[in-house]
Amino acid sequence: MKVFRIEGGQVLNGTLEVSGAKNAALPIFAACILTDEPCIIENVPDLSDIRFMAEILETLGATVERIDTNTWKIHAKKITSVAPYELVRQMRASICLLGPLVSRLGKAQVSFPGGCVIGPRPIDLHIKGLKKLNCDVQIDQGFVNVDGSNMKGDEIYLGGRMGSTVTGTANMVMAATLAPGITYIESAAAEPEIADLCDMLNKMGAKISGGGSHRITIEGVKKLKGTTHSIIPDRIEAGTFLVGAAITGGNVTINGLPSSYIRALLDRLDEAGADVQLGKQSIRICTDPGKLRSVDIITLPYPGFPTDLQAQMCALMSVVDGLSIITERIYPNRFMHIPELQRMGADIAIEGSSAIIKGTQQLSGAPIMASDLRASAALLLAAIAAKGESWIQRIYHIDRGYENIDQKMQALGVTIERLQDSEMPTSMKNIA
Ligand code: EPU
Repeated sequence: MKVFRIEGGQVLNGTLEVSGAKNAALPIFAACILTDEPCIIENVPDLSDIRFMAEILETLGATVERIDTNTWKIHAKKITSVAPYELVRQMRASICLLGPLVSRLGKAQVSFPGGCVIGPRPIDLHIKGLKKLNCDVQIDQGFVNVDGSNMKGDEIYLGGRMGSTVTGTANMVMAATLAPGITYIESAAAEPEIADLCDMLNKMGAKISGGGSHRITIEGVKKLKGTTHSIIPDRIEAGTFLVGAAITGGNVTINGLPSSYIRALLDRLDEAGADVQLGKQSIRICTDPGKLRSVDIITLPYPGFPTDLQAQMCALMSVVDGLSIITERIYPNRFMHIPELQRMGADIAIEGSSAIIKGTQQLSGAPIMASDLRASAALLLAAIAAKGESWIQRIYHIDRGYENIDQKMQALGVTIERLQDSEMPTSMKNIA
């Protein structure tokens, strides 16, 4: 297995264009099975999760061709309705095949996704929505079996205990595109990735309005056609690099990402004392080391502060002046990064769904273990800022969601190497 070796005490400096958004590309790949014509998807990030989704589509019968590193052609001329457990359990996002399968074929049999390290991730809202569309939904032998032969549009309320649901909204929008009648989704997720999916579906001939707002209207059509679509830039990748600039006292400019995508992060960084400069097409963060102070954060659905940047902000708050409280409202137990940050010298206590962080002057490098995608991003930032060398194991987690993160970090001046775990010095070998 591969590991990262990172030399600490470094500063991120330079300009960067982020990759396409993973969380837009995954449902958009699923949307390609809504038509029997080919779709070309551009600006797709080169990630293991994307390759995995391509594999699932092939298993369903689609022809999937990678035209170049970031462009894919998906042709679902004829597909089957069954997404088996061996595949679905490996990536939760495969649940967003449910909507397009039932819409295109009138039936779907998708394995119930398994457990997830970031906490319980129920699909009750997806099921509630499908039932409102007049589908018969049964859970049997670990599968969600949907009969949508009598589907018709209706009003769906998608608000749950934690707010709306992103992949649930994607599923309902896709399910409704070919359902007779008009569907209104109330309390829809307003994430930019949902707006991107709706744009792509409209290019395919769907009649959707309100994508990117909390009320989406879908007028069912008889058939969708193939199209070409370019994925929006990844706001979480961008945010990770901007937090990287702040934690290292660096100067990073991100080009091509609308600042509205990460306004909540920019607000918190500004409040913490970072210099946030917005150009027409660019976002620049520069900080004086030692100038930053603590801020409190509560994660919320978009446009609130994203849960996918919570871990990175925990790393930042570990090294700034003062006490900060970071409260997780989307996944109350998403704190796997905390024990590893503590091993690097961070002073953090977990109290319910909050992390209480007392800033220390500097973290110290250590052998650390990645446990999920965003936790590993936080550990990487902490390791770059820390004093001394760090080794990060299980970096396949980070490769699920960040395209060539080591190369991008190197371009910003970081000394980071991707090595075999056998190359780790014995003193750095972690106890799993
Ligand atoms: N929820 C329910 N019932 C449901 C669905 C969700 O109660 O039927 C709850 C969840 O338990 C959670 C909240 O609603 O507390 C939000 O979950 P949501 O369904 O919005 O999450 P998701 O669609 O499964 C997407 C991203 C996640 C990101 C969340 C929140 C994709 C493929 N995944 O997940 O991304 O954290 O939205 O923004 O879009 C990541 O990229 O690292 C990642 C985990």
